[in-house]
Amino acid sequence: MGNTQKYSVFITRKIPEPGPSILKKYFQVNMNPEANVLDRQVLIKKVKNADAILCMLGDKIDSRVMDAAGPKLRVISCYSVGYDHVDIKEAEKRKIIVTNTPNVLANTTADLTFSLILSAARNIVNADCHVRNGNWKFGWTPDLFLGYDVYGSTLGVIGLGEIGSLLAKRAKGFGMNVLYYSNSRNRKIESELSISYVSLEELLQRSDFVSIHVSLNKSSFHMIDESKIKLMKKTAFLINTSRGKVINEQHLIKALRDKKIAGAGLDVYEDEPISTSNPLIQMQQTVLLPHIGSATYKTRSKMAEVSANNIVNSLIGKGTVYKIR
Ligand code: DGY
Repeated sequence: MGNTQKYSVFITRKIPEPGPSILKKYFQVNMNPEANVLDRQVLIKKVKNADAILCMLGDKIDSRVMDAAGPKLRVISCYSVGYDHVDIKEAEKRKIIVTNTPNVLANTTADLTFSLILSAARNIVNADCHVRNGNWKFGWTPDLFLGYDVYGSTLGVIGLGEIGSLLAKRAKGFGMNVLYYSNSRNRKIESELSISYVSLEELLQRSDFVSIHVSLNKSSFHMIDESKIKLMKKTAFLINTSRGKVINEQHLIKALRDKKIAGAGLDVYEDEPISTSNPLIQMQQTVLLPHIGSATYKTRSKMAEVSANNIVNSLIGKGTVYKIR
């Protein structure tokens, strides 16, 4: 194996164990001890001479960062399944391996997505605030926080990858009718789960809950805009736990204001963190989470393990490397 301590790894934000320990066993490791995103200039300084960078969603890893790291850079390991923060073409040009963390966070994210469906439909957050703020004055009330049924309703899943399929499975357990639209049709899952493949337009027209599970790329950027929202039912909810830029947020805000749809459950935004002046914050018909789809102790620690092992196996090992493409 030779002297592996000659390799240096930079971790852009504090990640949980066993990630740091796995890497420290073999390499010199420099980890930003804070949980916050590094200022770009600091990031550019810190990556110098790194053989591997373990990065997060908020870090824009482009040619400037790759240049700053220098010619030793061989691995960019994403502590996420999404990799839209990395300039993949640029990495390919330089023969830098880019890796991610598939297979470990889909169930956790599907759980959170389902909680957004339930919370948005049944006013869970508003009702909780009502109780906490001392506004619950009259006991049981016939029209207090009336919402929409989830059981028996129709879920439209856009993108039938790992998370989309697991969400569909959960929905069937709730007695929902499930439609899906995806780049490729998956007849096996269709028959296993009794779900139907339809066009995007038909999905939007027929669904009571539309949930997005596509990765962000040129063709999915703003795929849900005014023209698509217009097709949705007035009583429908839009749910997004994928990437904010898949929805044209200004168009969504307008549609919510004009009551073109009933509400939205969002974990992701065009700009993160969302600004306090974003109109979505003032809207009662939205449930807003701070990008916590994969945030359980178990899953975040699994992600740390996979992203660390991606570096070990790329630089010195023979085990699995979850390469992008
Ligand atoms: C991902 O992995 O891409 C999520 O957005 C964060 O876990």
